[in-house]
Amino acid sequence: MSTKTILVTGANGEIGHGLIEYLSEYGGINIVAMDIVSIDESVKARCHRLVTGDVLDTYLLETLSTEHNFDTIYHLAALLSTRAERQPTLAHRVNVDGTLNLLEIAITQSHLQGQKIKFIYPSSIAVYGLPDLETKRKAGKVKEDQWLSPRTMYGINKLYDEQLGRYYTNYYRQLDAEPPKGQIDFRGIRFPGLISAVTLPTGGTSDFAPEMLHMAAKNMDYKCFVREDTRIPFMAMPDAVTALLRLQAAPYEKITQAVYNVGVFSPSALEMSQILKKAFPNNSIKFLSDYRRQAIIDSWPADVDDTAARCDWDWKPEYTLERAFSEYLIPAVQKRYSVKS
Ligand SMILES: NC(=O)c1ccc[n+]([C@@H]2O[C@H](COP(=O)([O-])OP(=O)(O)OC[C@H]3O[C@@H](n4cnc5c(N)ncnc54)[C@H](O)[C@@H]3O)[C@@H](O)[C@H]2O)c1
Repeated sequence: MSTKTILVTGANGEIGHGLIEYLSEYGGINIVAMDIVSIDESVKARCHRLVTGDVLDTYLLETLSTEHNFDTIYHLAALLSTRAERQPTLAHRVNVDGTLNLLEIAITQSHLQGQKIKFIYPSSIAVYGLPDLETKRKAGKVKEDQWLSPRTMYGINKLYDEQLGRYYTNYYRQLDAEPPKGQIDFRGIRFPGLISAVTLPTGGTSDFAPEMLHMAAKNMDYKCFVREDTRIPFMAMPDAVTALLRLQAAPYEKITQAVYNVGVFSPSALEMSQILKKAFPNNSIKFLSDYRRQAIIDSWPADVDDTAARCDWDWKPEYTLERAFSEYLIPAVQKRYSVKS
């Protein structure tokens, strides 16, 4: 088996940890891991090369591109929704210009190698923007082409990046005498909120769910920043990694759209707190809604329609709500914080 080389940006983040752990165990892959912060010890040992650098540094990216033949690029680096709202211009630079830089590297790689380069991109349910709670309730499971009026800088960046991916795949340099075709194979997933037992999130607006879990496991009280009836979709981290790998591995002719919804469970914040209360009865979870962050969450759908992912690349989550908490999240955080229930 020939060894493939892949580039993972944002490798030190939550998804990066999970993805690199899986890819390194799978074997036959050289992982070039890049992040603006230095990469954790647990990830380091699994990688072929570590690069500390900024996705805005085009010189660094071009140098990397001369040194490696990348088969696939997993472009995970981003500023997440809450952080992006606090630093909107920086978010635009990192989330949009950074993605453009990586797409250009994919084009260069395609020229050098004479083959399509896969570009795997984690988008988000933040691309959706429902105007009010009544509409959100009536909308139910939202399809990929509905309610695309995001109210956050992050959501706008993600939606635009999806369009860039579509452009680079289908229309890149379309006015050239001989437009180059089929250089990039862009595949995106609109992730819901992700919950990991291993890493803690920073800077996202769906962070209330993982924060609730980790605080409960640490036996600490938690003030949840959304209302009890708040409902958005979530997924356990192992399923997010599986989704990226399945989408990456799907045959080209099966891919019918640039970006796919994936959904799993959609409990209210209260329902989630009740599950945790059973496992960790000694701590309290209070609901003190922060109206600004609440407004963002209320604009995201209560659930998503992921029929296309199920049909095109056999998307099927392993961790239902019940399994995610009882078999993965709760046992793992109990072990991590050594808490006895
Ligand atoms: N975690 C979620 O709930 C969620 C949901 C939907 C989509 N996503 C998307 O998945 C991707 C990964 O998310 P995550 O949860 O691992 O986030 P994360 O914040 O844990 O990781 C992002 C990583 O990107 C790095 N980074 C930031 N700016 C950079 C720059 N200029 N150059 C290089 N690296 C930089 C950060 O240091 C961090 O390690 C992101 O694109 C995010 O938008 C995440």
